[in-house]
Amino acid sequence: MPRGATPARFRTMGPDDLDEVMAIECLSYPTPWSRSAFDREIADNTTAEYIVAQGPSGSVCGYAGMWVLMDEGHITNIAVHPDFRRQGVGTALLGEIARRGKARGVEKLTLEVRPSNVAAQELYSQLGFVARGRRKRYYSDTGEDALIMWLDDLDDLLEEHGEDPDGLRSR
Ligand SMILES: CC(C)(COP(=O)(O)OP(=O)(O)OC[C@H]1O[C@@H](n2cnc3c(N)ncnc32)[C@H](O)[C@@H]1OP(=O)(O)O)[C@@H](O)C(=O)NCCC(=O)NCCS
Repeated sequence: MPRGATPARFRTMGPDDLDEVMAIECLSYPTPWSRSAFDREIADNTTAEYIVAQGPSGSVCGYAGMWVLMDEGHITNIAVHPDFRRQGVGTALLGEIARRGKARGVEKLTLEVRPSNVAAQELYSQLGFVARGRRKRYYSDTGEDALIMWLDDLDDLLEEHGEDPDGLRSR
């Protein structure tokens, strides 16, 4: 994928996206999810909302997922292809997740993040998430704790990033 291109739009993740999603997943995590895990999420999990960001050529440049549990949205996964990082794609994906969550009654968002994952923590902090609690030895591959982060008011994020699905930052 060409460096510097900016994604134009989002769509719900479908089975045809999984080749590209798995490629990004494997580039992004030391212990990637399996293809069947994504398959189950998009086919069987009615609480789940999974989206992909499309680059200008139509290719997938990032994705994000959430479980909707009452008024809480639990972010389960977010990754951006390395060639598209630091271009606002992660921010925009969370804006779109917030927009879709709002439509399903979500009022606050939560997620887990590795203390060592500074990039993700910076992204979440910039959007108003605050760390509140830890899950001990949450990550089975390294035994690392998880930081639990919360965004208490979805509207704060929506005001900045959720109203315009095409409103991606271009650089
Ligand atoms: C975390 C991730 C999704 C961020 O995606 P992104 O598209 O690069 O994020 P954005 O461009 O929207 O960044 C928004 C802000 O987050 C912060 N940020 C993002 N990447 C950062 C980095 N590597 N170092 C420090 N801050 C970073 C910055 O404040 C950035 O704003 P700036 O570029 O104006 O300085 C991406 O790095 C990724 O896919 N990582 C691997 C998967 C992962 O760790 N997912 C999170 C699991 S909890």
